This record gives sequence, structure tokens and C-alpha cells, in this order.
Amino acid sequence: MRRALRRIWWLVEPIKVRIVLGMLTAFAATLTALLMPQVLSYLVNDVIGGGAAVAAVVIAGGLVAVLGLLEAVLLFLRRVFSVNPSTHVEYTLRNRLFGHLQRLPLSFHDSWESGQLLSRAMPDLNLIRRWLGFGLIMLFSDIVTITVGVVLMWSTNPVLALIYLCGALPLIAIVVQFSLRFQRLSRLGQDQAGDLATNVEQSVHGIRVLKAFGRSEHALEQYTVHASRVRETETRRGRLIAVFDATVSTLPEIALGVVLLVGLFQVAEGQVSVGAFSAFFATAMIMSGPVMMLGQMIGQTAALAAALDRHFDVADERPSIVDPERPAEFTARGARGELEFRHAAFRYQDAREGDEVLQDVHLRVRQGETLAVVGVTGSGKSTLLQLVPRLYDTTAGQVLVDGHDVRELRLEELRAATAVAFEDATLFSGSVRENVLLGADPELDEGEAEALLELALETADAGFAHSLPEGLDTRIGEQGLSLSGGQRQRIALARAIAVRPKILLLDDPLSALDTATEERVTARLREVLEGTTTLVVAHRTSTVALADRVVLLDDGRVVAVGTHAELMADDPRYRFVMADLQAERVDVEQLAGGSQRNGADREGRGE
Ligand SMILES: Nc1ncnc2c1ncn2[C@@H]1O[C@H](COP(=O)(O)OP(=O)(O)OP(=O)(O)O)[C@@H](O)[C@H]1O
Ligand SMILES: [Mg+2]
Repeated sequence: MRRALRRIWWLVEPIKVRIVLGMLTAFAATLTALLMPQVLSYLVNDVIGGGAAVAAVVIAGGLVAVLGLLEAVLLFLRRVFSVNPSTHVEYTLRNRLFGHLQRLPLSFHDSWESGQLLSRAMPDLNLIRRWLGFGLIMLFSDIVTITVGVVLMWSTNPVLALIYLCGALPLIAIVVQFSLRFQRLSRLGQDQAGDLATNVEQSVHGIRVLKAFGRSEHALEQYTVHASRVRETETRRGRLIAVFDATVSTLPEIALGVVLLVGLFQVAEGQVSVGAFSAFFATAMIMSGPVMMLGQMIGQTAALAAALDRHFDVADERPSIVDPERPAEFTARGARGELEFRHAAFRYQDAREGDEVLQDVHLRVRQGETLAVVGVTGSGKSTLLQLVPRLYDTTAGQVLVDGHDVRELRLEELRAATAVAFEDATLFSGSVRENVLLGADPELDEGEAEALLELALETADAGFAHSLPEGLDTRIGEQGLSLSGGQRQRIALARAIAVRPKILLLDDPLSALDTATEERVTARLREVLEGTTTLVVAHRTSTVALADRVVLLDDGRVVAVGTHAELMADDPRYRFVMADLQAERVDVEQLAGGSQRNGADREGRGE
């Protein structure tokens, strides 16, 4: 806990003045509240007991009223001082977390559920804010009130104070026990809330599949299981607080009862004045609020500790794919686009050693060359493409661009020099224009951007975008108009083209198009992207035949390289794969009867 707090100190640093001011006002409010019993003591002893003038009564009464008012003002100020800084902390942490998530490599995102990340970005940070803005100052003010109160009680009447303390001492042990258990339960509850968020996210995302498969009921059942776990933990937490609160308030109350008895006895014996006794008792009463509050604040602090732990679980993940310390001289603009795989091997993070997805890939792609990547499903084609922009790093061997190991290049430049059209065309909520120009050079002026947009759309055969309801300004993606699988694919292809990359990586980008359109797009691509090195995962002979060379992958190994004609003539494995793939295509085509068949196919897979 202390360690975690030390680690967010840099965040608190700029707002420490306000936090200290908040604490000071809280302190002043406490003193004000505790002054009232002293006035009371005077009122009882000297004014009422001493039979003073009415004016003195009015003055003393007025003083109590003024003190009350002052306390209210101070409490208001405490709020004012604490709200702004805590929102600042939440805002900063949230932005940093988001930036961090963007920098973390795909391998991290492969192994983390979205809901867990979501709950860390939202409710956990909310908790941290509430603690900094409220919990910390309240904790401070409670402790101060209790300490000052005890000192005052001690100075008024040590015997009674001792009795009171004896009743309150076991509280320390109870508090420690409670905070440990509460922290464990908080962590559990926060993790379960994360699972619940994942569940919601997945079922909302996959709502179409769930409906189509009639699994909505099942999804609800699963959700209910998660929800009841969260509920159970919350109930346990509630019960723990209830028991704690009851103990925390009962013990001092009992002590207070004894104090009352002993005190009355002392008063009767004339050992203590009525005024001093009422002051003592009023002080003890004022303290009962903070003592009760203390439980809640300790609970909040324990929940904060759990939230900080969860935050640092993610914040401590070091991005493994980062800029090199001494980057090579390389700019996207000046790049030639030569690509080489040098004995490259790759294995996914949680796979066992020996379960390499790619092995000893040794391949050279000349500048401007189009290389088709062919292989049966699961042979590692998509993985190979993702090694180039360092979405993953090789586990052995190297990938080189223009003769530099990609790990020696600044990520920004490397990624500006490459563009990928992924198998599943993910589009963002936004207009067609925004989606297509996502990776385009931001320095283009409006005219150039518009020309590029047109060229990209035309090359990708995405002219249909013009006839959408609001043309290129039509919102697509999650919150917008739904496009067909083939339409999405073509927008995603246009997006890759608009980068005007030196190396273009196309992962089966035309699978949803009919053969004639595919051929037209492929030919046009070659024309527009003259000089662009292209790696294209392809299935159809028509696309493969247009490539300069073809590489055949089998179980992660390069088993043949050559032109389509050469491989067809010489390599039975290639003939087998091509024939197989063709047969597969034809089957699907016949089944679905037309150009959209693969869009639907892919959408199904994408979910
Ligand atoms: N993120 C991942 N984490 C773990 N394993 C993965 C991941 N992505 C792919 N794999 C595994 O790596 C192997 C190669 O997958 P890859 O996606 O590269 O195949 P592919 O040749 O593109 O197949 P397809 O033609 O079906 O697209 C598969 O066995 C797959 O299960
Ligand atoms: Mg693939």
C-alpha cells in the first residue's frame, strides 16, 4: 500500500498544495467542532451555575452559533479544495493508461480480456479519484478529530478518558484485521466486475451470432453467473462493513456508558464540575461521528489499495516492442522498400517451445516486387505479414527493411513505411473519409488528401462509397451504417493504399470480391502501386498469377518459392494446395451463390 502510494506521488505532487489546504480546512473544522463543548462547559459552570446575566447567556449561545457557522464554511472549503485536484489525477491517470495500452504489444492484448482493461480504465480510476478527493482528507480529519478529542478528554478528566480509551483500544486490532480482509474482498470484487464487463462487451459485440444461434438465453445465463458472483462479493463486503461498523460504534458506546456512570458518580461526589463533565461528554459525542466514519474510510483505503494494485498490474507491463535506443538512419519517405526475412522464426507468447508458428523463414523480396503468400489455413501467412510492421517480434532470426533489422528502426517510421489490410476489416466509427485517410500523411493539404482519397477508393473498387446516403461523409463503423463484408474489405484496402506505403501487406484483402472484380482490382493495384513492395496473401490463381513470385508456406516453413507458372509445373505440393484452394472456393461460391459469399463467411469467423 505504502509502495503503491509512493508510486502515485508524482501525480499528487502538483496538487499537494490543494490537498494540504483541504487537510488544513478539515483540521480547522475539527477544532471548531471540538471548541463547542468548551463553550458549553463555560455556559454550564459559569453562566448557568454562576447565575450570570442574560446577556452572557446570549453571548455564549451566539458563540456556539458562530462556531457552527464557521464549521459549515470550513467544510464547504474542504470540498472546494479537494474536488478539482482529484479530477485532475483521474484525468491524468486515465490518459496515461490509454497511451500505455496503445504502446503495449499485441501479445499483451492477446492475453488480456477487454473487460479487465475497461474496468481498470473506468471504475478503478474513479475509486482512486474518490479517495484522493475525499477519502484521504476525511481519513486525516477523522484521525485528527479523534486524537485532539482524546487529548481534550484527557486534559478534562484523565480517569474518564482512560475508561473511554480502554473501550476503544481493541478497535486497533479490529481495524487492522478488517482492512486486510476488506482489501482482499475489494480486489476480488474489482476482478469480478472486470469479468462481468468482458461478458457484456463480448455479448454486445457478438449479438448477431448469439441471436442467429439462438444462444441469447445461454448468454444471459452466463451473464447471470458472473453477475451473481459480483453480487455475492458485494454482499460479503457489505456484511463485513456492517459487522465492523457495529463493533466500531458499539465498543465506544459501551465505554461511554461506563464513563457516564462513573462521571455522574464523580459529579455527585463533587470531584468534577457539571460543566467539565458535560464538556467531556459532548466531546465524546462529537468523536463518535469520526469513529464511525473511520471504518468507512479504512474500507475505502483498502479498496484503493486493491485498485492501485490492479492499475499497476497493467501500468507495470513494459511495452516489449519499442523504439531502439540508437535508431538507424531511416525515414518512411526515403525508404526503398526492400524486405528480407532472415531465418525468421516466431512463436506466440503462451505457446510452448517447439510450437513455432513460423520457422526458419528465409526470403528476400526486391523493391517493387509483388510476392504472393500461399498456404493452407493455419500455415502462418497472417503471422508472417504481421512481423513486418513489428506487430509481433520474431523469436529468432530477423526481419530486415532496406537492410536494417526492423528492431533498429523507429517504430513510427517503420509503420509509416508499411501498411496492412487485415483479414478482418475493422473500421472505426467515423466517416468513410476519416476511415480511408486514417494512416495517410497528415501533412497533405486538403486538395491532395481529396485526390488521394479518390485514388484509393477507385483502386480498391470502393466507388460504391460515393452512393452511400451522405457520400464520403456517411458515418460507418460501429455507430454508423453497416456495410457488407465485401464493402468493408474494400474500404480497408483503400485505407492501406492511402498510406502510400513502401511495403504493402495485404492479408487476403479481396476474398469477398467476385473473381472478375478481384482481377480488375489486382491489375489496378499493380499499376497504382508501381514500385511498392507488396506481400499479398492470396487464394485464387488469378491473383497469384499476377504476382511476380509466389511463396508456399507449409506449417510455418517456406517450402517453395518461384513464379506461379514454375511452381505449377514443378511443385506437386503447390499444385495440390492451389487445386485444393480452388476447389474449396468453388464449393463455397456455389453454395452461397455469388460475390458476397465470403463476406458472410468472414464475418462469421470474425466474431
Ligand atoms: N494471436 C494468436 N495467439 C496464439 N496463436 C495464434 C494467434 N494467431 C494465430 N495463432 C496460431 O498461429 C497459427 C498460424 O496462424 P495464421 O493466422 O498465421 O494462419 P494463416 O495462414 O493466416 O491462416 P488463414 O488462411 O486461416 O488465415 C495457427 O495455428 C493459429 O492458431
Ligand atoms: Mg490468415
